[in-house]
Amino acid sequence: MPFTIAIDGPAAAGKGTISKAVAAALGYAHLDTGLLYRATGRRVLDGLEPLAAAQALVAEDLARDGLRTPEVAQAASRVAALPEVRAALVDFQRAFARRQGGAVLDGRDIGTVICPDADVKLFVTASAEIRAQRRLAELLAGGHDVTADQVLADVRERDARDMDRADAPLKPAEDAVRLDTSALDIDTAIAQALAIIRTRQG
Ligand code: CDP
Ligand code: CDP
Repeated sequence: MPFTIAIDGPAAAGKGTISKAVAAALGYAHLDTGLLYRATGRRVLDGLEPLAAAQALVAEDLARDGLRTPEVAQAASRVAALPEVRAALVDFQRAFARRQGGAVLDGRDIGTVICPDADVKLFVTASAEIRAQRRLAELLAGGHDVTADQVLADVRERDARDMDRADAPLKPAEDAVRLDTSALDIDTAIAQALAIIRTRQG
């Protein structure tokens, strides 16, 4: 059986950076499942109906520029609350998780819904204020015109929508290991994630 690692958590907790580093260290493939919802949200902003947008997703969409904006993040979290959209994206994610050679998937519902049998489940968190500071730094570095207050409001609104939805809400799986990165720099957070994973690999 291929080894599967599920990494979930709220916005800007460090899931993506940790997942990418873990996948590189272990030679596994990595899927940022947030991009599926961002690409769907982007198409809905362009006028498509949500289910059609999710069904039409192709690899090119995931590589498309402009998915890392606050507007697209909000659109992603709105389409992510629609059960038909989530259902349309399940098979792709599960097929990715089963690929030979190991896989790391990060998102909101990987350990709870997409891969309930994952070999390792991490729930990466940090305080909303720290996550908003990190996201602000990224957006400013990318040339986006945003304020600290706007980014904190965006993070809080998305967290609330993601946690309160009926279908696949954001929450730690019962068997997930929690990793609070509030006081950790990114290299320490990656090292701690790898240590937890290596313990499970025996
Ligand atoms: O994928 P997710 O939205 O959870 O977060 P990310 O994109 O991996 O991380 C957001 C930003 O916070 C990145 O620029 C990370 O390098 C940074 N970060 C950090 O500085 N310290 C951490 N312990 C975790 C993330
Ligand atoms: O990088 P960040 O954590 O800010 O966002 P993301 O991971 O790209 O996810 C964008 C939005 O997609 C989230 O706010 C969720 O509403 C949704 N999402 C989801 O519902 N399930 C997933 N497995 C991944 C993302």
